[in-house]
Amino acid sequence: MKGDNAPGSGSLEKEKIQTVGVQTMTRFGLLGCGAMGSAVAQAFVSGEIPRTLSCVYDVRAEAAEELAQRFKDPPRICESIGELIENSDFIIEAASQEAVREHMPAALKAERDVLIMSVGALLDDDVRDKVYSASKESSASIYLPSGALAGVDGMLSGAVVGVDAVTLTTTKPPGGLRGVAYLKQRGVDVERLAEPTVVFEGSAVEAARLFPKNINVSAVASLASGRTANVRIVCDPDAERNTHEICATGPFGEVTAKTTNLPSPDNPKTSYLAALSVIATLKKITGNIKIGN
Ligand SMILES: NC(=O)c1ccc[n+]([C@@H]2O[C@H](COP(=O)([O-])OP(=O)(O)OC[C@H]3O[C@@H](n4cnc5c(N)ncnc54)[C@H](O)[C@@H]3O)[C@@H](O)[C@H]2O)c1
Repeated sequence: MKGDNAPGSGSLEKEKIQTVGVQTMTRFGLLGCGAMGSAVAQAFVSGEIPRTLSCVYDVRAEAAEELAQRFKDPPRICESIGELIENSDFIIEAASQEAVREHMPAALKAERDVLIMSVGALLDDDVRDKVYSASKESSASIYLPSGALAGVDGMLSGAVVGVDAVTLTTTKPPGGLRGVAYLKQRGVDVERLAEPTVVFEGSAVEAARLFPKNINVSAVASLASGRTANVRIVCDPDAERNTHEICATGPFGEVTAKTTNLPSPDNPKTSYLAALSVIATLKKITGNIKIGN
């Protein structure tokens, strides 16, 4: 591939991506102004997402105020979820599973498109049913970014003919599993492990219940493949980073992918790739060139 547009020729970087897709006048609203919300807001500030962030809401008003200060032309700081829904056309959820449960059905019923980061909430059949039904009734769209996981594209394609099995192996350093009640109950002291140890093996649904802070990746794998993932969580005393290895099999063959995540440079609490995946999804939605699936 040697044309002007070949990777490495430099023309790819120079190419101006025209922004169409979601209407230019779309009012973007941000629900949740913590680690993830701040990373997304920064992409609006820098122009990486070539649109305007119209309003923000957080139960911690100070978090919303702090975030709004980054903007030359600050977004409206809403005082309630109702005000956010009223003043947005597209809501970016970066808050919590509870926020998905409590607010996403109402936002969708009001015909607001939503991007959901707390994907783990959708592993609950009742919540998923309410959220998906609200979208069906109103025709508003739900976007679920792949987050900190690679291989979602292959699972989505494979799901067209059916995925037979999905296995997710997540490896974490002890710090990433500190304080998990289930491990304490089982007498597992992650700080004292001498070698890599499987601390959980079971379904993604069970993992969601027992490891509520570590489940977005298994939820994305399950929803993309249409099959509840088998999850293995390994605690490795020598690991410095979180890794996720996915393996999906079916009539199409096998998809395997490994992701090693670094923390976000701006906020070590969040995986860099997860924040970048929201930004990439918003760029895809607002841009005219849509690569992947
Ligand atoms: N899909 C992925 O790969 C992925 C990756 C990272 C984080 N997440 C999810 O994104 C969400 C945000 O993560 P974070 O690291 O930014 O967390 P965070 O704790 O730093 O920030 C969350 C913010 O949302 C606010 N909030 C929580 N519930 C709310 C509600 N009901 N209404 C209004 N505001 C509310 C909090 O006050 C806080 O400021 C979490 O649910 C997390 O699990 C998903």
